[in-house]
Amino acid sequence: MNTTAAITAIGHYLPEDRLTNADLEKMVDTSDEWIRTRTGVSERRILRDPDKATAFMASEAANELLDKRGITADEIDLIILATASPDMPFPATACLVQAEIGATNAWGFDLLSACSGFLFALNVGSQFVASGKHQKVLVIGSDAMSRITDYTDRTTCVLFGDGAGAVLLEPDSEGYGLLDSVAYIDGKGAPFLHMKAGGSLRPATHETVDNRWHFVSQVGRQVFKHAVVGMADAAAEIMERNGLEGDDVRFLVPHQANLRIIDATTRRMGIEPEKVTLNIERYGNTTTATIPLCLHDWEADLKRGDNLVLAAFGGGFSWGASYVKWAYDGAPNAERVRMNAEGVSEEA
Ligand code: UT7
Repeated sequence: MNTTAAITAIGHYLPEDRLTNADLEKMVDTSDEWIRTRTGVSERRILRDPDKATAFMASEAANELLDKRGITADEIDLIILATASPDMPFPATACLVQAEIGATNAWGFDLLSACSGFLFALNVGSQFVASGKHQKVLVIGSDAMSRITDYTDRTTCVLFGDGAGAVLLEPDSEGYGLLDSVAYIDGKGAPFLHMKAGGSLRPATHETVDNRWHFVSQVGRQVFKHAVVGMADAAAEIMERNGLEGDDVRFLVPHQANLRIIDATTRRMGIEPEKVTLNIERYGNTTTATIPLCLHDWEADLKRGDNLVLAAFGGGFSWGASYVKWAYDGAPNAERVRMNAEGVSEEA
């Protein structure tokens, strides 16, 4: 059997501070009711310490993963960090993580594909494992979205939160791990979801700062229209290619941008709503961290042999889906909080 890349451990980090819908009602013209019904978000985590950012959260997630797997950082061969909010334009935030955790034998790089970043990084990392080139690849999604969110813009500030999730990829010869992926980009979508300035096209000037161009800018309705179709199409395609019916899928693990986008994907896949991992209510859209945070929160429920479909849509536009056959029985103490029909979280 061919070598595949199996996920063998998960780590996560969430800042303590919470920003609730009630807090946002005091900051912009919005309401808890609007936010919950239009997006599914009730609160998000915010990294307040100005001396800490994406690399810090990624390193915390990586360290938790190393502890759980019982290995040391010098065993890591490669670090791929997916992020839309790097600590600095350069060097790669992966380098800062490498130094912080002491991964002295690893090389690494950042992968920028907005909300699809983790899915794409998983895809790339798997190639290095499947080829036999590397034994231990760390794939991290970490985003300090609060640092690039305009808290005077009600159309975006209610959506995003901060957090990080990490997985370890190792070789498997028994048919477990990442078995298939589909991935797409369409740059015609760039104007609808982007950060206008701070790159080489529009370097920082007084004008860019005055115009608030260093924050996320989104034409929500346009992104929504494409996301509903893109994520559902990609999930359906990965199922069809691998002969999966709804009943064969244990969990859909979707990017958490909007409950209504996730619902469309769920319906298209023909799976029951109970088979969808949801943390949007508690964390909002953490961009590259949504999928690994879901894997972390549902780890206790995962059994060796479970079929998972991971799906994402984000800026670029970029989107895709992956088929993962889970490799180990879940950790007994993993946290799990589900949303009930009213969108209120409850311990499961
Ligand atoms: O993760 C990366 C990919 N991103 C996504 O997938 C996000 C996709 N887009 C969305 O999730 C949704 O478009 C949003 C949640 C961003 C917006 O929901 P919507 O149902 O598409 O609302 P809308 O943009 O069509 O706005 C409807 C109304 C507007 O008012 P008018 O023009 O009808 O008077 C907005 O100004 O809601 C207003 N509005 C708000 N009202 C209260 C927009 N934001 C808010 C708000 N509170 N926070």
